[in-house]
Amino acid sequence: MTVLVLGSGGREHALALACHRDPQVAAVHVAPGNPGTASLATNHPIDPCDKDAVVALAREVAADLVVVGPEAPLVAGVADALRDAGIDCFGPSAEAARLEGSKAFAKEVMASAGVPTAASRSCGDLDSVGAALDEFGAPHVVKDDGLAGGKGVVVTEDRDEALAHAEQCLNSGHQVVIEEYLDGPEVSLFAICDGERALPMQPAQDFKRVGDGGVGPNTGGMGAYTPLPWVPDNLVETVSNTVISPTLSAMRDRGTPFIGLLYVGLALTSDGPKVVEFNVRFGDPETEPLLSMVESPLAQIMQAAARGDVSGTDGLRFRRGAAVGVVMASEGYPASPVKGRRVVAPVDDEDVLHAGTRIEGDGLVTSGGRVLVVLGHGETLAGARTDAYSRVDQLEVSGGFHRTDIALHAAELEAVDEMADELAPQSENNPSNPTDGENS
Ligand code: AMP
Ligand code: GLY
Repeated sequence: MTVLVLGSGGREHALALACHRDPQVAAVHVAPGNPGTASLATNHPIDPCDKDAVVALAREVAADLVVVGPEAPLVAGVADALRDAGIDCFGPSAEAARLEGSKAFAKEVMASAGVPTAASRSCGDLDSVGAALDEFGAPHVVKDDGLAGGKGVVVTEDRDEALAHAEQCLNSGHQVVIEEYLDGPEVSLFAICDGERALPMQPAQDFKRVGDGGVGPNTGGMGAYTPLPWVPDNLVETVSNTVISPTLSAMRDRGTPFIGLLYVGLALTSDGPKVVEFNVRFGDPETEPLLSMVESPLAQIMQAAARGDVSGTDGLRFRRGAAVGVVMASEGYPASPVKGRRVVAPVDDEDVLHAGTRIEGDGLVTSGGRVLVVLGHGETLAGARTDAYSRVDQLEVSGGFHRTDIALHAAELEAVDEMADELAPQSENNPSNPTDGENS
């Protein structure tokens, strides 16, 4: 099997590696890729949003499967173009990608499917925004309806700040979604979907704020770990029944079945798990630790999903133990990451995933905010943390930084196993002080 992965970050490095490990896979291609993917696959310098170029490349390399990493090509219809050309693609159609591309659409689907989520109002003018803010009260949650690369959501106690963000979204021509605040720790649950059935992965957690303790601005994610010893044992089953299956049915009923990776962002509230967001692709950086734990042949499973039937596969198996991923970021991230800084890291180490590096001369330099995702493994989260951070200490992103508390609280909880269900990690999503959380 020949696989083509679209994208250039740490997620795509992890996807390329996972495909490479599948015994049926003979060759992996990545477009455009990065220095890490170049060590195990062939990189191609094309724009993953350029449908014609992607189809031409898939034909040229005789790809049996195209896996789309980021959301932008999906929203642009790259999966449709590939399917029209008769090429199997793991990734939803542009219509189905609206589950991520439009918050209002996602809310509409969830409402019709009876999926538990925050109550919300879609607003087209400031008056209705003001009314919705007052209806739900503080903390206020204000979302840009369009794709905003993780920057479209503001969570704040300050009504004026909420209004100002809404005004900005309205001025750029977008609807605004005002939501009820969901209180509870956040969990990311990924499911491989074939349009009808879903193979859920084990839950993971992401750390969104830039600084230790959940302070500072929101980022794409500063680290992640899996599994989560503190979630209820039946969480995956509950979310499969209350969220994933009804959503897949609703999408099928609309004539836009969802094929690809459904990312369910959840808040574990006192009323049970509720959906904070859907994404239509693997999350970054959760994917890096998660895929490092997958024992099943991932390319074969994604191909089966792309062909519309995963029932013939053996499902997804994860190995025992824990995985932690720590993001090494460039100075200035997330506001204005410095590019061109020296990076000292191997390109061919399965535990060092390249996210924002490029070759310059005979070395590596930073080319983005999140530079490396460094993995660690162990029997326990504590062991995986030690492993990850000892690897971080051997690498260098000149002038850069990382969080030192990835999975720290969960590792502490792991030690008090029997109390785990009651003591979910101190939520970084704390209603009394949302600026201290990771959720705005
Ligand atoms: P989204 O782009 O919808 O994923 O939102 C980004 C982040 O904002 C989420 O990961 C949460 O941390 C936070 N967030 C979004 N919606 C809510 C909500 N209704 N209640 C609390 N936090 C939220
Ligand atoms: N880790 C969050 C995301 O991929 O959107």
